[in-house]
Parts: sequence; C-alpha cells; structure tokens
Amino acid sequence: MSVLKTPLTRLLGCQYPIIQTAMGWVADAGLVASTCNAGGFGFLAGAVMTPAEVEACILDIKKKTDRPFGVNFHMYTPGAEKIVEICIRHGVRAVSYSRSPSRDKIDKLKDMGVICIPTVGALKHAVKAVEMGADAVVVQGGEGGGHTGGIASSILLPQVVDTLDVPVVAAGGFKDGRGLVAALSFGAAGVAMGTRFLMSRESPVPDQTKARYVGALTEQIIVSNKLDGMPQRMINNRCLQQLQSTSIPATLWLALKNGWAFSKITGGSLWGMLSAGWQMKKASGMSLGQTLMAANAPMLIQQAMVRGYPDQGILPSGQVAGTIDDLPTCKDIIGGIVTQAEDTLARLR
Ligand SMILES: Cc1cc2nc3c(=O)[nH]c(=O)nc-3n(C[C@H](O)[C@H](O)[C@H](O)COP(=O)(O)O)c2cc1C
Repeated sequence: MSVLKTPLTRLLGCQYPIIQTAMGWVADAGLVASTCNAGGFGFLAGAVMTPAEVEACILDIKKKTDRPFGVNFHMYTPGAEKIVEICIRHGVRAVSYSRSPSRDKIDKLKDMGVICIPTVGALKHAVKAVEMGADAVVVQGGEGGGHTGGIASSILLPQVVDTLDVPVVAAGGFKDGRGLVAALSFGAAGVAMGTRFLMSRESPVPDQTKARYVGALTEQIIVSNKLDGMPQRMINNRCLQQLQSTSIPATLWLALKNGWAFSKITGGSLWGMLSAGWQMKKASGMSLGQTLMAANAPMLIQQAMVRGYPDQGILPSGQVAGTIDDLPTCKDIIGGIVTQAEDTLARLR
C-alpha cells in the first residue's frame, strides 16, 4: 500500500495526507473546496466569522465539493456554541481550534462523530490537547505563519510523535514533496500548510498583496508580539515597523481605535466590543494588555489581506514564503507534492 495512505487519510477520508489549514480572511469556501477537490483536506477559517457566516460558507463548500472538509473556530467566543451546533447539523467531518479548548464542546462534537484536531506549538500543549479528547494534533513549529511558538519543526515534531498515541500532523515550514517525506520519516501522519495555500491561485487575497508574499525574503519574515500581544510571524513591512516602534500606551490607544472601527463594520456597539473583549480575556487567560492589543488584529490584517493595501496592514506569513515564488492552483500544489514525494521515496529506496 502507498505510504501516502496514512492514519490521517483514513481519519479524515481524504486522498492525500495534506491539510490546508485555516487562515483568517484567506481560507474561504473557494479555497477549502479547491483543496478538497484536489485530494487534500481544507479547513474553513471560521474564527473570524459570525455563526451565520460559517453556516453560509459550509453550504457554499457543499455546493462546490462532495468531499469531506473541516471548520476552524475559537471555543471561547460567544458564538462558539452555535458553531458547534452548525458543524454537527451539516455533518462537518472535522473541527480545528487552538487556545482555550472547552471540554464540553469537544465531548459534544465527538459524540456526534466530528473529529477534533487542535493545533499546538509545544509538547505540553499537545499532551493536554489529547487529555481533552483530541483525535489527532497538528504540531506547528516556530517557522509557521500567524501565532506561533519558538521551537523548530525538526525538534518539536519528533518530540510530540514520541509522546502521543494519536496521529500527529506536521505544520510550520512545509511546501513540497520533500517536506512531506521528511515529516513522514519523523513519524508524522501528514503535513498541514497555511502559507503554501495562501500563495495559490484560488486564495482570495488581492493580487498586489500576493505579490508582496512572492517578493518576501526569508529573513524579512519575523516574529513580533506587537500586533496583539502574542508572538506572531509576519512579513516585516511598513505597518509592522511602525507598530514595533510605537510606545505601549500608543499601541493600546491604536488598538482601541481599531477595535472600535471593526465593531462599527460588523454592526456592533462600543459596549458589545468591550464585553466581547472581557469574555475573551476571561476564557483565554490573556492579560488585559494582550486583550486590548488583540483588538488591533482584525482591522490591520484585513487592510492587507482583504482590501489589498499590503503596506498599510499586517501580513501574517510562514518563513516558507521566502522560498516560494509562484501562485499555482491547489490542484498543481497537491499534485506536485505527491509526485515529488513519490520521486523522493523512489530515490531513497
Ligand atoms: C495569513 C494567515 C492567517 C492565519 N490565520 C489563522 C487562523 O485564523 N486560525 C488558526 O488556527 N491559524 C491561523 N494561521 C496559522 C495557520 O493555520 C497554520 O497553522 C500555519 O500557517 C502553518 O505554517 P506555514 O504557514 O509555514 O504552513 C494563519 C496563518 C497565516 C499565514
């Protein structure tokens, strides 16, 4: 049997052990369906959506593919209960989540046959995730995009594989078939990629922003906690440089302004923004400063990723963007990975 049939392909019902991870404002219905139709497994970025938007996207994905797919969301947000119900009602195959998982919600999902695959960035979080019911874990090394830990995939992955009894999926720095073979050789059941799929033809990111990713050098993709108080890997553009040189009080003031502007766009009120922030602080264990700073992220990320102003907004990115200079279709990305993995395996034999 092919080594590309793994516990992950059996668990998720996909053709190849390749996951397209959730990325806020990037992993939309079109990207998820294209990934699934190409034989991978896509996660919808539900963490930046209302429950109604998640449901609309699920219906859209189902129009575009008959293959299984997943939904990503934060279990600590006010809409989380509704998203759990929506995922169950529509027979979503898997959910992914990271910070502050909730045992009740995991139990409910698992009872209804939804597979739970959290993303973790440290061994102790991987162990905790399995204790809380995870069916598999995605382990993200520090190379990865968005919120990220400080340990490289080559160290973290074997450490987690040696400790857990559930399938482990490697994330952070993967883009090709050599990487897939390397991950399998470490004992992983597959790879999960964000940046590679962001840099695809089907990704909804505006062309001028995609061009910024294509032009980025590896050393320009840095980790900073200046956006929302937590370490996050991003392209070091003008907007990030401004944030880096801004004083803490000025950053908090900017966060309040951005949070307020975002609430107005989403039809919310000042009171709604403050109470959502308070709920988030209580459930996620973040400090007051981090919670306030988190209000920065939606406006600044959308400015680049949705509105297409790559220097006025934030560009979350894995280091791997520095080694990618094309924007192929999801079919070509996955087909290319499979062909290169098979060639690599044949060469090693
Ligand atoms: C633009 C962008 C947005 C992201 N948004 C999310 C998100 O909303 N939820 C999440 O769990 N992870 C998010 N991540 C992390 C990715 O899902 C994934 O774990 C990471 O990109 C893997 O590393 P790679 O970029 O090297 O493939 C994001 C990453 C990027 C690049």
